[in-house]
Amino acid sequence: MEKKWHDRIRADILGLDRKVPLADGTKRPYINLDNAATTPPLAPVVKVVQSFLPWYSSVHRGFGYKSQLSTEVYHEARRQIMAFFGVPASEYIALFVKNTSEGLNKLAQRLPFEEGAVLSTWMEHHSNDLPWRLWKQARFIELTPDGCLDLADLERKLKKGQPRIKLVTVCGASNVTGIINPLQTIAELAHHYGAQIAVDAAQLAPHYPLRLRTDGAEPLDYLSFSGHKIYAPFGTGVLCGPAESFRTGTPDQVGGGTVIAVSREGVVFAPLPDREEVGTPNLIGAVALAAALRWLARNDFKRITAYEAALTEYAYERLKTVPGLILYGPPPKRYPRIGVISFNLEGIPHGLVAAFLAFEAGIGVRHGCFCARPYVHHLLGLSKSAILSYENLAKAGRKCLLPGMVRVSFGFYNTKNEIDLLVDALKDLRQEEEKIKNRYRIDPATGEYLPKIGNFKGALLRHTKTFFHL
Ligand SMILES: Cc1ncc(COP(=O)(O)O)c(C=O)c1O
Repeated sequence: MEKKWHDRIRADILGLDRKVPLADGTKRPYINLDNAATTPPLAPVVKVVQSFLPWYSSVHRGFGYKSQLSTEVYHEARRQIMAFFGVPASEYIALFVKNTSEGLNKLAQRLPFEEGAVLSTWMEHHSNDLPWRLWKQARFIELTPDGCLDLADLERKLKKGQPRIKLVTVCGASNVTGIINPLQTIAELAHHYGAQIAVDAAQLAPHYPLRLRTDGAEPLDYLSFSGHKIYAPFGTGVLCGPAESFRTGTPDQVGGGTVIAVSREGVVFAPLPDREEVGTPNLIGAVALAAALRWLARNDFKRITAYEAALTEYAYERLKTVPGLILYGPPPKRYPRIGVISFNLEGIPHGLVAAFLAFEAGIGVRHGCFCARPYVHHLLGLSKSAILSYENLAKAGRKCLLPGMVRVSFGFYNTKNEIDLLVDALKDLRQEEEKIKNRYRIDPATGEYLPKIGNFKGALLRHTKTFFHL
């Protein structure tokens, strides 16, 4: 029953049949374990996009039938996205942006809070750290030794911080450890001390039914997420929040579409949402994102969440059987996690592990610091002086020596069999460690590990050219 259900939803992912070249010249079906970076498209989403494209026209900028239809479709996509995330249209707004990063940058620039009144955390992706750090001189919630948020530190800073904290901004789930943060507790604490809460939902939204407002739960104030991480890679993200926060003041980006009157003397901004969405909107992205959310709702999102949780526990336990494999963060049995697991293999550079998996097993993973350097440094237990010396190495372009981890991350379509293949490959690497190390060289320009034999980059370029026929 479970298998049949899973086979059916897995079949909706586009491209699972594609084979990729290995270093020895053979080809193998690709195993994508890099869903935290981006997810493959859902075929039904692509179908919806294709069915709409013949009708595609300008939004808000024409009176022809197709323009009117396109405008209506854009509004309907926004309505559906808001309903999915429990965003009440009466007081809140969902703004289309390019991705989570753009949403968080917009929020950091639009909120009027004084310097020091925003509290971020040391667990964040750079996109929920740097905008607050650079525009709002944010302070940061500390971490426990195993990489969870220190809630006592959060409360201390909410209670005693000067200036008083007006906003707590936190990831729903970490892109390094997959830890799901206790959003309800954080929201209750923030509200109790008179602050709002913003959730960077880039990682959580694709794996867990998340609602800004829902009966019986503490409301959240802001959400930001990306379509390309929810099986709709068409360049759209969303920022939701109270309409009041965006109704007045100068938008972070201005130009066509944001105004209702402009004269030599002055500017009158349009009502929401237009004043916050500069230029021609990404209508196709909006259509695709709404379609992906409908697909999740129709395919029992709660069951998908439960499936992914079981897969994550399975992967964590299986990875533990690889000799010398170091896992980061608390085990998923002890702490709720989405399907993101980072690790190192003792004595083998993370870049080499990723290269071996790509070139000899056809498995796609990510390695490095995953745009969350302070968190990775914490989990690796690096001292301040070590971090400084690594910064100097980075400045000198010696990337292969930088610290990091290997990350595997799952989508609903991944299987236990794929995890078994990953674990087998890692055990092979461990067993043949010296021989395998000898099969790779470091590309001095990029710091990447490449196979000594064959011309992988040449083949890659030839493949690239096949997409530029027209
Ligand atoms: C937790 C988290 N926040 C923000 C982002 C940025 O997302 P995007 O690149 O779609 O802007 C990512 C991307 O990996 C992420 O994992």
